[in-house]
Amino acid sequence: MSENIEVNFRLNGENVTIRTKANRRLLDVLRDDFHLTGTKEGCSIGECGACTVIVDRKAVTSCLMLIGSCEGRDVITIEGVSSPDRLNPVQRAILEHQAIQCGFCTPGFVMSATALLMENPNPTYEEIKVALSGNLCRCTGYKQIIDAIYDAAQQANRADPAEWDRNIIPDSGGRPLPWQPLNKPEVCELSGGNENEEQS
Ligand code: FES
Ligand code: FES
Repeated sequence: MSENIEVNFRLNGENVTIRTKANRRLLDVLRDDFHLTGTKEGCSIGECGACTVIVDRKAVTSCLMLIGSCEGRDVITIEGVSSPDRLNPVQRAILEHQAIQCGFCTPGFVMSATALLMENPNPTYEEIKVALSGNLCRCTGYKQIIDAIYDAAQQANRADPAEWDRNIIPDSGGRPLPWQPLNKPEVCELSGGNENEEQS
């Protein structure tokens, strides 16, 4: 049986602390404790990409990452890349290209594409295909999605390069983020922790 540990990390621009079992998946902590349900669970074995988040500026499948390994890391979920009145360029392009049907896969694609554009603001079509090769879609077809992301990069590249990151991810700059969790759970605090948390 795993003991509770304290994990401190940055979540969508906010420093958080959680006391929980070290062997819980990041995916479950995000969805069940932080109520960030935009991150989806598909295959649970790292094959579909529906659970993709960004950790330290890299796309990561959160179903394969344990919360115990998140200490000191910078985690961004789909809720952290936009606000209700400001979609990021990838999301806008996906809408413009109608590259969405049921939408279940979409948060994962947005996160993989956003991580790519953070690392490589001007990817080729082939580089986009490679970056998205870990994301599966069963309804839309990949061409519209890849077209949308290519277009997003072109549009964003016409913006001021200094604005690049903020164009992709709203920058809190020490101010309250545009995004806020709906119900911040008791187990997650800006500092300290809750000894009473009992997660399996
Ligand atoms: S649910 Fe994580 S990769 Fe499919
Ligand atoms: S839009 Fe339905 S799985 Fe991709």
